[in-house]
Amino acid sequence: MSKADLIVGIQWGDEGKGKMVDLLAHDYDYVVRYQGGHNAGHTIVVDGKKYALHLIPSGILYPKCKNIIGNGVVISPEALIEEMAQFEDMHGGLKGRLFISTKAHLILSYHTMLDKQSEQSAKVAIGTTGKGIGPAYTDKISRNGIRIEELQDTQALSHKVLEKLQNLKDKGYAVTIPTQVELKEKLDSYAKALLPFLANTTSMLWNAMDKNEKILCEGAQGSMLDIDFGTYPFVTSSTTTAAGACSGTGIAPRELGEVIGITKAYCTRVGNGPFPTEEDNQVGETLRQKGGEFGVTTGRARRCGWLDAMAVKYACRINGVSALAMMKLDVLDGFADVKVCVGYADKNGNTLDGFPSDLDSVAPIYKTFKGWDKTAGIREFDKLPQTAQEYILALEQFIGVKIAMISTSPDRNDTIFRA
Ligand code: GDP
Ligand code: IMO
Ligand code: MG
Repeated sequence: MSKADLIVGIQWGDEGKGKMVDLLAHDYDYVVRYQGGHNAGHTIVVDGKKYALHLIPSGILYPKCKNIIGNGVVISPEALIEEMAQFEDMHGGLKGRLFISTKAHLILSYHTMLDKQSEQSAKVAIGTTGKGIGPAYTDKISRNGIRIEELQDTQALSHKVLEKLQNLKDKGYAVTIPTQVELKEKLDSYAKALLPFLANTTSMLWNAMDKNEKILCEGAQGSMLDIDFGTYPFVTSSTTTAAGACSGTGIAPRELGEVIGITKAYCTRVGNGPFPTEEDNQVGETLRQKGGEFGVTTGRARRCGWLDAMAVKYACRINGVSALAMMKLDVLDGFADVKVCVGYADKNGNTLDGFPSDLDSVAPIYKTFKGWDKTAGIREFDKLPQTAQEYILALEQFIGVKIAMISTSPDRNDTIFRA
């Protein structure tokens, strides 16, 4: 019986998970998204062509790979249908290659409206992607959600949605209520496009493991955005850490295999919330421009700063990371010095012991490394400049987890594998 491997973001998202999932997917029979929704934006570059995936797992570019959207995902039918259209002509279409859990929940337009309104009225906004993620998970947890399988009876579902819209209107929200016929028509169009893809994905995965097939779970967002272990309340509304792979698929904890953590060689964050190593200055601007740090989903400029190795170490423990992939090393090319946060001090300048329960008022304690000229496109560890090798080895020692993969460009092939 096989175990399911897992790719998980170690920072605040956008670490380069898409590239690694795509790169590894050719060895897997299944790639599974298990949480989040179309707040995710995973970029894959193959032969110079760029693909932006939000809901469809990053195994879709391989003809033999089956792709599952698990029960833990929240699905905007409109976003999914639009994304599916890109792949209709690839490898004979999506039938037999894409499967959606009957238990996944829907994001409808009122969730998006609620997300935007709550951001507008908040004293300090979270800086969400505005995709309705929080409200959809709120409905799920409060047992008011809509499972995608409810599209099997659009008559009943249209009445349920109308009731929700009326409730919101009664509470003073600016909602336009369609007629039942209009609403049913829209739901019918979702049903027509999506019902053929619904499946009992949990039993599919169990059967696959029983047959010794290989499964790769693809995390969205990052550990520092986890609802419990991230920088609450500036987080997303799902379990982005390894535990979410179990509750979001039905794979048992003992059936998880390798946990591959993805981190950049520096750090970014989109939206508000603490970010101890942020460089809101020329250093940050250089990282942003060189790293193309603009959101795939919202186009927002990402906040940039030096690598927070304290946060990486913490996230490795939370996830049980067995190997790390360090992405975007090339973005640090050309810096005279490269800094890494190896400790935190409180506001009185006292060094903190361990990882604090919030990062609000901590100051980073840096170790400075000598920079290097060029790593871009290098595919062997020994060919990296000596100072870049030293940077990797020192980090590995500090974090206590092997940096088994190093990425030196967006391209699939520009990746170093270390034995
Ligand atoms: P994800 O959300 O974790 O999948 O990451 P994103 O796709 O949102 O952001 C990562 C960005 O970095 C994408 O544009 C990738 O094409 C790009 N990228 C990935 N690895 C590398 C790398 O090693 N070097 C450079 N320069 N870019 C990379
Ligand atoms: P990928 O999978 C980076 C951030 C938002 C905001 C917070 C809450 O591409 O790494 P939400 O819309 O989820 O309620 O927003 O989470 N966020 C991400 N940041 N990458 C992502 O996904 C993100 N998904 C959500 O910017 O700060
Ligand atoms: Mg992203």
